[in-house]
Amino acid sequence: MLNPELVERAVELLRHGGVIALPTETVYGLAANAEDELAVRRVFAIKGRPATHPLIVHLPGAEHLSSWARDIPDAAHRLADAFWPGPLTLVLPRTPRATDAVTGGQDTVALRVPGHPVALAVLKALGGGVAAPSANRFGRVSPTTAEHVRADLGDDVDLVLDGGPSTVGVESTIVDLSAGAPAILRPGGLSSEDIERVLGHPVPVRLASKVRVSGSLASHYAPRAGVVLTEPREAAARVRSLRDQGLRVGVLGPESLELPPDVARFDVPEDPAGAARVLYARLREADERGHDVLVACLPAASGLGIAVRDRLSRAAAPRDPHS
Ligand code: TXA
Ligand code: MG
Repeated sequence: MLNPELVERAVELLRHGGVIALPTETVYGLAANAEDELAVRRVFAIKGRPATHPLIVHLPGAEHLSSWARDIPDAAHRLADAFWPGPLTLVLPRTPRATDAVTGGQDTVALRVPGHPVALAVLKALGGGVAAPSANRFGRVSPTTAEHVRADLGDDVDLVLDGGPSTVGVESTIVDLSAGAPAILRPGGLSSEDIERVLGHPVPVRLASKVRVSGSLASHYAPRAGVVLTEPREAAARVRSLRDQGLRVGVLGPESLELPPDVARFDVPEDPAGAARVLYARLREADERGHDVLVACLPAASGLGIAVRDRLSRAAAPRDPHS
């Protein structure tokens, strides 16, 4: 999995304005040298994302924090010590090293040290920051395998590094530490329970911030099929009534569901971490089968279940024709 020649090639490309797909433990990233403005602009162009939406800068280690962020509160150091490398992104006041191209002109920067051996090898060899949003086209489901990236972006990227399926499966949890009390801007691969345990107090979720967080658009993560959310105990009845309307129905849910024999089920386990790991892959598979409607079972609202419910709700939200 960790091929030193490919890592070297990736670093060469990043040093010379290249854009590569990088495996991380959350989802695959579309990566450029964060200090190369032209390369960062290419990332926006390939994704089809508005240039005002800021990107996350990935760092080789927590020791790089102070060269990208200033006025770092003690809470940031405690979270970085506890969870980096890992699925946690910290939003902090920026230093000049974080350019307008990366931050969308804001005075803050989002930083994370990813917990994937291939990503870490590339970052350490580069010795600097890599700006990377998820490696999908704007508004689509994030990729958790190299095949997903190729299917979405094809030849638009200079190199796709294959690091196997992402083990966490949903994007990092974003915590804003740039002003006042910490707040969660996006639930993700690190649970709020874990964050609160380290900080010793409750951390509110603040989805509607003044900051542009594209993952927070209601219609983000949208498959082509319609998505209907259900508690597992109501799934069978929902499926029957939709099927009786003549719709081609697929189900995202656990094995324990009792479904009519001709209904396709895409396995999303009941435990929240297991559900997070496979959620995007199953949404893609189900979507490729050409179902009219996907009935998705909601996991329990604790741990990573919060992030899974958040992504499923966005997948189920009415489409915004402009996203
Ligand atoms: O797990 C992840 O975070 C993945 C992997 C590749 O690291 N990356 C990812 O990137 O999800 P992206 O661009 O799809 O989402 C990054 C989120 C966006 O919603 C963006 O608005 C937010 O981070 N963000 C970036 N800079 C920010 C800032 N200064 N303040 C608030 N939010 C920020
Ligand atoms: Mg994304």
